Amino acid sequence: MTQYLIANWKMNAPALPAWAQAVALACMNDEVEVVLCPPFTQLAAAQMVLTGTPIALGAQDCHAEDKGAFTGDISADMLKRSGCGYVIVGHSERRAYHGETDEQVRAKALAVLAHGLTPVICIGESEAEYNAGRTLEVITRQIDACVPEGEVIVAYEPVWAIGSGRTPTTQVVAGVHAEIKKRLHKPAPVVYGGSVKPENARDFLSLEAVDGLLVGGASLEGISFAQIVSAAG
Ligand code: PGA
Repeated sequence: MTQYLIANWKMNAPALPAWAQAVALACMNDEVEVVLCPPFTQLAAAQMVLTGTPIALGAQDCHAEDKGAFTGDISADMLKRSGCGYVIVGHSERRAYHGETDEQVRAKALAVLAHGLTPVICIGESEAEYNAGRTLEVITRQIDACVPEGEVIVAYEPVWAIGSGRTPTTQVVAGVHAEIKKRLHKPAPVVYGGSVKPENARDFLSLEAVDGLLVGGASLEGISFAQIVSAAG
């Protein structure tokens, strides 16, 4: 099965050409799909730089409607026209800072699917929920509420692991991914995200239930993300 390595640049804009060159050199394997999700303002430049490389383009969010009076928003239709093949939806930072609900995340995922793109739907428990042993209850509820039928990717991102330098053990990740796979309407790739680094990428990628990684901080440097890509396949 293909392994997905998705770079989420968040609100950061490193120089594209050097990044693309380093990462493209690491894409030696047809079984690995590498996706760059830069800020919206860099999509046009990224599309040019990535043309002719094996690196695909994605976006970090979209609106559920195709067009209309939604100041500051971008639709899945626009992202498709900008060359995107993937759209991250429901990232915990969107849920926390923009109040996105499960219903909105599902509507966004449906809009992405309607345009023939692949939504990368993020789910994951908070630290309090993790400590209370409620992880499976939370992710089950989120899958039922946010993940529509269709060709999706699910990203398991424990909120407490994002940007913190802390991760669940590989045993926990394997167990949660197995539960996610059981709960989905049909088989879909499930990627792990949260403090992935070149040092731990191989540990997660070697788990059978892990179909790739969603990487924030360590994706900003081309060399560091290239090391993560090299750990796949
Ligand atoms: P991180 O972010 O790799 O910096 O922890 C992951 C994410 O938020 O997708």
